Amino acid sequence: MVIKELKLRNFRNYTNLELEFSPKTNIIIGRNAQGKTNLLESIYFLSHLKSHKTNKNSHIISRGETAATAEVLISNNHQDGWLSVLLTEKQKTAKIGGRAIHPSKKAKGVLKCTLFSPDDLQLVKGEPSSRRSYLDEIAEMVDPSLAYILGRYSRVLSQRNAVLKKQEKYRGGAVKVLQPWTEELVKLGSQITRWRMLAVEEIKEEFSREYLRISKEESHPQLEYISPLGSLKPTSTLKEIEEIMRESLERRRGEEFHRRTTLVGPHRDDIKITLLGWEARYQASQGEQRSLSLSMRIAQKHFIQKKTGVSPVVLLDDVFSELDLARRKNVMETIIGEGQAFLTTVEPLRLIDFEGYRTFIARGGKVEPEGT
Ligand SMILES: Nc1ncnc2c1ncn2[C@@H]1O[C@H](COP(=O)(O)OP(=O)(O)OP(=O)(O)O)[C@@H](O)[C@H]1O
Ligand SMILES: [Mg+2]
Repeated sequence: MVIKELKLRNFRNYTNLELEFSPKTNIIIGRNAQGKTNLLESIYFLSHLKSHKTNKNSHIISRGETAATAEVLISNNHQDGWLSVLLTEKQKTAKIGGRAIHPSKKAKGVLKCTLFSPDDLQLVKGEPSSRRSYLDEIAEMVDPSLAYILGRYSRVLSQRNAVLKKQEKYRGGAVKVLQPWTEELVKLGSQITRWRMLAVEEIKEEFSREYLRISKEESHPQLEYISPLGSLKPTSTLKEIEEIMRESLERRRGEEFHRRTTLVGPHRDDIKITLLGWEARYQASQGEQRSLSLSMRIAQKHFIQKKTGVSPVVLLDDVFSELDLARRKNVMETIIGEGQAFLTTVEPLRLIDFEGYRTFIARGGKVEPEGT
């Protein structure tokens, strides 16, 4: 999959931007605060229908403006088509080939991308929610039905939590009111758990391989899907997971009423990342954490490619600054070379010898091909 053109209007610091890209590597060079990340964010937004930096449209719309648009011309299997998003403070409209898509989230994953960002360290050292988002982001790219299930799950979860929170309102009838929400939670939650568990099983092989390749040292990197349901196995069937989840909810009902929140379900899951058996979250060095998160992203890219047959566009936001030269070279060889990549950097990157790359200079809300 290749982005041929990008047009931005009132998107962050871009009043009006129109660019044509190389189908291979695009290097965006610029000093701090010139709009490098904003450019990648616009591509991420078109892919996920949300930003990786904020949930508020108003943060994205240029200051003083009321609407923003982002459009890309995508080429996939020799077919070209425009994908666009129009943002106002309260609304988001996606269009494919000029036709509006309802609801707009159906356009998620039409443009497939994998973003490597400086915030990726959070994948390793951050809260479990960062690792759950990692999996959900992948799900959105490969499986539209799961994206829909995830959306419904989060609505059911907040309804169920609302009943637990306001239990007194039901004068002893809260258990009964909770019942249909519990059943929905089990139905949706077990599908999410099973999908994620199987995804981690596939992703972890590639992850270990990539880590060893980047770091060239024997450190036995591992990923493991962690669920408070405990006794799950990758071979567990959907029915089995439903049963385990239902039982667990039953067992913890008293505790749920006491703590006024849902204690069982995929919203409590995590991925455990280890090196030589030690939890990387607490013990790995900064460089190791950087390499671990990079390996997770590379594995994500390959997983999307394997599942969809489409090579996602790779967005690399300033990821090289913390890596030593050997690791940089390794990462570049692995990620770049196949498919299209967008790479931002503050300083011109030496040591690169890409084929067919194009360099752009970002300066004060403008991005121009180098040499113009
Ligand atoms: N809604 C907005 N309207 C106008 N400008 C904005 C908006 N949101 C952010 N900006 C500005 O856009 C500028 C560029 O931000 P961006 O994060 O893209 O910089 P960058 O080139 O990636 O810099 P760095 O090298 O520091 O990461 C910043 O000065 C920021 O304040
Ligand atoms: Mg930046």
